[in-house]
Amino acid sequence: MLINKRQENEREDYALSFKQRIEENSRNRKTDIVLALDFPYQNPESRAALLKKAQEVLEAVHPYVCAVKINHHLTLPLGVFDGVQTLVNSAHDKGLLAIMDCKVNDIGNTNQIIAEYYYQAGFDALIANPFVGWEEGLKPIFDVAGKLKRGLILLAYMSHKGAAEGYGQTIIDAKTGKPLAQYVSFARKALAWNADGVVVGATYPEKIGEIHEILKESVPIYSPGIGAQGGAAETALKAGARYLIIGREITLAQNPAETAKNLRASIKHGE
Ligand code: XMP
Repeated sequence: MLINKRQENEREDYALSFKQRIEENSRNRKTDIVLALDFPYQNPESRAALLKKAQEVLEAVHPYVCAVKINHHLTLPLGVFDGVQTLVNSAHDKGLLAIMDCKVNDIGNTNQIIAEYYYQAGFDALIANPFVGWEEGLKPIFDVAGKLKRGLILLAYMSHKGAAEGYGQTIIDAKTGKPLAQYVSFARKALAWNADGVVVGATYPEKIGEIHEILKESVPIYSPGIGAQGGAAETALKAGARYLIIGREITLAQNPAETAKNLRASIKHGE
């Protein structure tokens, strides 16, 4: 696989796992916030303006966050090896880690290729969906992530209202034959597969609590859904979340830097 110059230069850092690198970054920068660099739909012809806006927000907000999370909001209009790679490089230059929220969800062969492209573009971690299972599902991307010393974060309970229809359903545990909540099964898989984190919506603090009981400090919980979706930072952290994923509350604010600074100040980091 091709490794670009930047990745070669950074390889020494990769002696640490993604889980350790983000923990260290969060401690050094005294922030638990992961910036979701999301913007409203724009005509693809305006992509130069979109890239400029994303760069401006990243520049303004970077002192107050430990990582940036990018998803289809930017990969579709800007291209992974084009505008998005510029943003990933820029995030690295500012000392931030870059997470791709692509919710990998296909057969293993396709998952592996998706992961190779995103890691090649410089992403430090990807988000994947454990619904596809291990064999010929997520195993191939855990293998790639292990080889390249990158991270994999799994969904456990999403932040939107319909989450209960999938993540909240009761399943029959294949091993015991007993009923089990789907998200409990995913939390156990995250432990067994040695994932770098799980995503649990801040909109469901009771689920954060239950999942934290299973994962303890072994697998950190990333919690989106603060502000725009109705979740509260303090409640999520108290329930056991380790990182808060925050998008529109910051990116659409009149003053993103001031908003991020105030959010960081209002969150009791490390407590
Ligand atoms: P807002 O603007 O609501 O953005 O702060 C949240 C960001 O996080 C993503 N998101 C999720 N990602 N699991 C995920 O992996 C979730 O349950 C989830 N909920 C929201 C969303 O796409 C946006 O980028």
